[in-house]
Amino acid sequence: MAPSAQTKKLILDGSLFVLSQVAFYYAFKVIMNQVDPAKTKRKEAKNKSKEALGKLGIDLSTLDLNEHEEVIASEVVSADEIQVTFKDVGGLDPIISQLREAVIFPLCYPQLFESSAGLFGAPKGVLLYGPPGCGKTMLAKALAKESGATFINMKVSTLTDKWFGESNKLVAALFSLARKLQPSIIFIDEIDSFLRERSRTDHEVTGMMKAEFMSMWDGLTTTNDTRILVLGATNRPNDIDSAILRRMPKRFAIRLPDAQQRRNILQLMLKDIKVDKNFDFEALVRKTDGLSGSDLKEACRNAAMVPVREYMRQNVTGGQIDVEKMNAGKFNIRPLRVTDFFVSDYATPNGGSMEQEGLD
Ligand SMILES: Nc1ncnc2c1ncn2[C@@H]1O[C@H](COP(=O)(O)OP(=O)(O)O)[C@@H](O)[C@H]1O
Ligand SMILES: [Mg+2]
Repeated sequence: MAPSAQTKKLILDGSLFVLSQVAFYYAFKVIMNQVDPAKTKRKEAKNKSKEALGKLGIDLSTLDLNEHEEVIASEVVSADEIQVTFKDVGGLDPIISQLREAVIFPLCYPQLFESSAGLFGAPKGVLLYGPPGCGKTMLAKALAKESGATFINMKVSTLTDKWFGESNKLVAALFSLARKLQPSIIFIDEIDSFLRERSRTDHEVTGMMKAEFMSMWDGLTTTNDTRILVLGATNRPNDIDSAILRRMPKRFAIRLPDAQQRRNILQLMLKDIKVDKNFDFEALVRKTDGLSGSDLKEACRNAAMVPVREYMRQNVTGGQIDVEKMNAGKFNIRPLRVTDFFVSDYATPNGGSMEQEGLD
């Protein structure tokens, strides 16, 4: 029996309805994918990690990482990206050799320590502490460059980023990735801020994340074949949770540089600068008492500007620099003197019309 006209219409209507629903579903999905920031963020992280691991000569597809490990992989730093070496760090030679012996060697050459039955294995936690600007972050970077280990510069904000998913999964991924790429150093700068939150905030998520972190960290000591180290740096060791301190038995104090250390740092910083033949290095060392490495750097920068500024005041007319002369290398700037370190920025030996104009 042929279907009546009415049935035909019903079938047509029905299929049209189904079709429109299907079309709507797909359109909705496409739009949602586009506006879903988590997805874009994860994609970005994936690209970043591909790049980061690519620089290490690791093919992301051979590693078989889960979604959370991919997020963490974007924090891996390759040695090529780092400009700092141990040679650039002034006055910390004893600490550098201790770091080499106690951290890099056991981590990277465990066979050297095999006979010692686990007694001398690499420490699982190392802390660099001391006042700001004395080279802690710099040391960590140099360590990353020279250790040959995978260096994960873990930013706490990545672990707590809500778009990347659950923090405790990210923490687990941090350690599992470190294991896949071992020997690894997990570096946490300003580690006090990560742990200070623990007592104060009520946030259950961060609490869970920290608990996870601690238990993963403890897991490192139970197996002998894991070569993972957590390296922390802080300006405020007193703010660090005792539970964390306990896990960082190896601690290095990076104090304000003493005279000998300042001498080393200044020599490093001024090595490419032409100094006056009467340059009294010792006077400079004495007068910079109490300055940190980064203060010294700033002082050198300001001092080096003094002869340049002086030259400009004398030779640059009407704000115009003689480009030809400059390109010919005929700018004859006088060598640096110790007194340049004690000229204030706005000192105006020649009447200072330039500065005055600038200030008006
Ligand atoms: N011992 C040092 N030798 C050479 N430069 C130093 C030293 N300490 C600090 N500096 C300079 O100061 C800057 C800041 O140091 P940084 O390592 O960030 O200090 P911290 O992490 O201890 O606060 C460095 O980038 C470097 O230019
Ligand atoms: Mg620092």
